[in-house]
Amino acid sequence: MSVTGLLAEVADVGRDATRGGYSRFVYDHAELTLREWFTEQAERRSMEVETDRNGALWAWRHGSGGSVAPGAVVTGSHLDSVPGGGAYDGPLGVASALAAVDLLDARGVRPARPLAVVAFPEEEGARFGVACLGSRLLAGAIDPDRARGLRDAEGRTFAEVAAAAGLDVAHVGPDPARLAGIGAFVELHVEQGRGLADLDRPVAVASSVLGHGRWRLVVEGEGNHAGTTLMADRRDPLVAAAAVVLAVREVARRYDDARATVGRLQPVPGGTNVIASRVDLWLDARHPDDAVTAALVADVRRRAQELAAAEGCTVSLVEESYGGTVHFDAALRDRLLGVLPGAPVLATGAGHDAGVLASAVPTAMLFTRNPTGVSHSPHEHVEDADAEAGAVALADVLTDLLGA
Ligand code: GLV
Ligand code: MN
Ligand code: MN
Repeated sequence: MSVTGLLAEVADVGRDATRGGYSRFVYDHAELTLREWFTEQAERRSMEVETDRNGALWAWRHGSGGSVAPGAVVTGSHLDSVPGGGAYDGPLGVASALAAVDLLDARGVRPARPLAVVAFPEEEGARFGVACLGSRLLAGAIDPDRARGLRDAEGRTFAEVAAAAGLDVAHVGPDPARLAGIGAFVELHVEQGRGLADLDRPVAVASSVLGHGRWRLVVEGEGNHAGTTLMADRRDPLVAAAAVVLAVREVARRYDDARATVGRLQPVPGGTNVIASRVDLWLDARHPDDAVTAALVADVRRRAQELAAAEGCTVSLVEESYGGTVHFDAALRDRLLGVLPGAPVLATGAGHDAGVLASAVPTAMLFTRNPTGVSHSPHEHVEDADAEAGAVALADVLTDLLGA
């Protein structure tokens, strides 16, 4: 089946009428629907589907019986999205993997190794705050107790929500045996920039993932009445938070290659005629060099403290997640380039489960052209012909890695 045909089947799942695009949050109705769709698609391809201890779905070709035979070749991506995201970030990699399995079958490929398609949960961290939560748990990159205690916007813990979806949350955590059975992981993803569009090429091989992290700032002031509190008497944390947003941009501009964003800001209690008592805001900061990111965040902390004090408020800043720059396995990258001669090699500023798994298994990525260059937005796009070219490239790579 074509990638476009597969994505068309889920085109109505998780559409967000308010924000536009798609909101598919881990274990919400939309994401669970996508999991069912994935399971059904995998079973149609004679793949045996299992859920790992961290809630990732693994569809195995030539049955693993739940245990991973050594040297498995794994491909896939994620099904969850950012709030109001595009149709491709995540699902393109899953649909391309399924389409690649069809291509292998059509070519009569007889794999010498096990093959799996994986769908990781909570890659965006849109519900529980920590990006790549499923792959981090698998790789031992987050403490399981911390993961269990993460809360969504409604205050429900990851443990409660995952348990309600059927996961045995007592057992979330590292799975070294599973990782030891993986010979290579290749994630195909929509490109989240204009690299391929500018080069006029459909598919690229990834070189690296930019180091990135998330920090939560809590600005506290005094909640009060919008009409009865004189301007001179206010300790308004939203005014301080607004200044912090501007300071983040100013600080980031001082460091070459840095990116820093406040994309989420939440006044508490959040009423038109209410001076907030507290504002939570989230900083996303990225730079190739860990030391620069640390310096940038330290600058933000210092400026935030000054700006909060000027408004009679206080501020705290806590790291929620961090991952340094990842350079993908050079031998595997070169092997992909051997299969896809002349393919451009591109770095990415976006995070991926592949970036997390790279600490444990030989990992590579393919990017499919996005003509708009826009991502985390409904304007993310992939032309049908490029989607198919991506699946063919992935099938070529898998054929090689499977030792067929
Ligand atoms: C995910 O796409 C991220 O880069 O945060
Ligand atoms: Mn993604
Ligand atoms: Mn994303």
